[in-house]
Amino acid sequence: MTKLIIANWKSNHTLFSALNWVDQVNNYIETAESDIAELTKPVLVPPAPFLGLLSEKVKNSILQLGTQDLSPYPAGSYTGEVCTDNLQDLNIDYAVLGHSERRRYFGEIDEMVADKVKQAVRAGITPIICVDEPYLESQTQALKDIDVDITKEEMIVAYEPLAAIGSGNNADVKQVKTVVDDIKEIYQQSLVIYGGSVTADNVEHYLAVADGVLVGGASLKAEDFIQLLQAAC
Ligand code: PGA
Repeated sequence: MTKLIIANWKSNHTLFSALNWVDQVNNYIETAESDIAELTKPVLVPPAPFLGLLSEKVKNSILQLGTQDLSPYPAGSYTGEVCTDNLQDLNIDYAVLGHSERRRYFGEIDEMVADKVKQAVRAGITPIICVDEPYLESQTQALKDIDVDITKEEMIVAYEPLAAIGSGNNADVKQVKTVVDDIKEIYQQSLVIYGGSVTADNVEHYLAVADGVLVGGASLKAEDFIQLLQAAC
């Protein structure tokens, strides 16, 4: 089955280095011997200001684009927010929502994340909802409260244990399998991926138990991301 390999750059890169990264990765994808498109779905989630130019660059590539956040509101007077209308025509397929860094530094709570999920679903953007055990249950309830049918909508749920993010302490694969299976029972149409200190050295283990990976640090350099794709094939 095709596995999602998602590069979450967070607030890293300049436009120049971003364009360079895409050139290198596209180049690799075009010349690779293994059938990357059969085996993986590479997705780049860069800072929002780069999305316009990058969407031109990935037009003829299998590389897809995602946004790191979304406004919980539709178009209107919400200074500073990026809503789904703003992203229309940019070929944005995914939105990472409720990342623990947004909860920690920007006060995001389950209800806000649920509103963002609703906006994404309405616009045909697949939400990638980040959860850890402490907030899996409350996030699920918040989605039900605003009538998002988690048993019917196609979403991606990213299991991201807090202790594993950016720490080098990647989670135990057996534990990830257990949680992934639990999440699949709740979010029945969804794919479930793992995130937290994934590298080219450990990615294979997580792909054996999940539908893909969300990668921060090891996605920043094109060479490292290419190694991840190679390890996933
Ligand atoms: P990391 O980040 O790969 O650097 O641990 C993962 C994430 O925050 O999604």
